[in-house]
Amino acid sequence: RPLLSPSPPLPALFASVGFSIFAFLAALYLVPALGPTFIKANLKGKDLLKVYSDPIPESQGLVCASIYILLLILFIPFPFSNSVASLPESGTTLEGLQGVASLHHELSVYLSSLLSLLMATILGFLDDVFDIRWRHKVPIPVIAAIPLLMVYYAEGGNTHVVIPLPFRRFFGVLVNLGPLYYVYMSLLSTFTTNSINILAGINGSEVSQALIIALSVILNDLLYLPWPIGFRIPLHLLGGQAEVEVGGAWHAGMAYGSSELVARHLFSLYFMLPLVGVCLGFMYHNWYPARAFPGDTLCYVTGMAFSVVGIQGHFSKTLLLFFLPQIFNFVLSCPQLFGLVPCPRHRVPRFDPDTNLLHPSKALFLRPPSKLASLVLRVFSSLGLTELTIHPNNGTILEATNLTILNFLLVRLGPMTEKRLVQVLMAVQVAGSVLAFSVRYGLANLVYDG
Ligand code: UD1
Ligand code: MG
Repeated sequence: RPLLSPSPPLPALFASVGFSIFAFLAALYLVPALGPTFIKANLKGKDLLKVYSDPIPESQGLVCASIYILLLILFIPFPFSNSVASLPESGTTLEGLQGVASLHHELSVYLSSLLSLLMATILGFLDDVFDIRWRHKVPIPVIAAIPLLMVYYAEGGNTHVVIPLPFRRFFGVLVNLGPLYYVYMSLLSTFTTNSINILAGINGSEVSQALIIALSVILNDLLYLPWPIGFRIPLHLLGGQAEVEVGGAWHAGMAYGSSELVARHLFSLYFMLPLVGVCLGFMYHNWYPARAFPGDTLCYVTGMAFSVVGIQGHFSKTLLLFFLPQIFNFVLSCPQLFGLVPCPRHRVPRFDPDTNLLHPSKALFLRPPSKLASLVLRVFSSLGLTELTIHPNNGTILEATNLTILNFLLVRLGPMTEKRLVQVLMAVQVAGSVLAFSVRYGLANLVYDG
């Protein structure tokens, strides 16, 4: 019996929208107001892609994270107040006791989520201040996710995956991944936090990714709410194969004897709506030419928020579909992340002050690349993912454009301004989400039944 009661969810949902508008206004006002304080505390950075070198307040994601987490704490009474009010009169009856247990459960979901967000904020801020090394910071989100995983375990969380139709002959319909599923979920938090951080370096890039992913999650959540009327979205317009019935999910949920589905997506909405608020407010100041930098704090806290809703809402695979550009960027980055190809401190594109255009930046080989590195780079180059500078006589690789999606876009589309590049990046993220929806609700019908 979920107490984030879906009937009627409206008061808490309205409150959440109100909190989100407040989050937007607070970020809009506080980010510039606290700028000088950040600079005084030496939290400042130089904009690498500008001619001027005025210090820009760095890690102002801390302002966003503070507003976000404080509002989430203030919000606690709203979804729970109905159930709390009805507890005393049910006394010590069986129903009353079940109600108490259920309330504790819902609260532990909410509180463990807050704990993970706080851990992400601390980690991000420490990274901003101390520039933590990769091998130290990668495992921390795994630990930060343990409270989430314990809560998932305590509610008897599902560790089965549904096998696509063509493979059922070998594996059957369901496979229980057991502990492996927990490994997967803890890696999810490392991925969502770090993948936004390594797709960074041009004004607006970090926050616009977070904004578009959050809006995609919200759109997906809305499909599961009990709308008064059902309507159909023709997915074949998006290249999918079916139509999806909005509002129908509610009835499906009821048919399975649970309104839990609705409750989970409401929970996700409560965490995503204020995130959109702070991101929009911050984006105003981070937009080209940036007056504020997000720092690692914003990347980590937004990334963790996505893991939280994906895990607690039981839709981590759908969530990963909204990270297609980040997955692409991560796979492309692997040779540099794992030391096969030299990785400079900054892989941001190169700025040409004369034309005001960005060009792909390059990684320089001081020693000739290993056989494996050469092979990988030549494959990448033949796929059009990087451009190589080859020694005219002996054919060894001297330089390669840095392996990021930003440099890839510049290699493919030619030099462009910073503002144009962030707009292209946002278009790619939106296109990724459109693809994600058609895969999730269209193609899924081809490989899964029902
Ligand atoms: C990650 C990337 C790095 C990229 C950097 C940019 C990897 C492995 N690491 O490192 O390649 O250069 O992010 O954020 O891919 N900055 C700008 N304009 C912006 C945002 C940031 O010039 O719009 C610069 C500023 O100098 C700022 C600095 O980037 O101070 C922040 O870099 P930081 O977040 O510390 O870099 P990492 O996350 O370690
Ligand atoms: Mg960073």
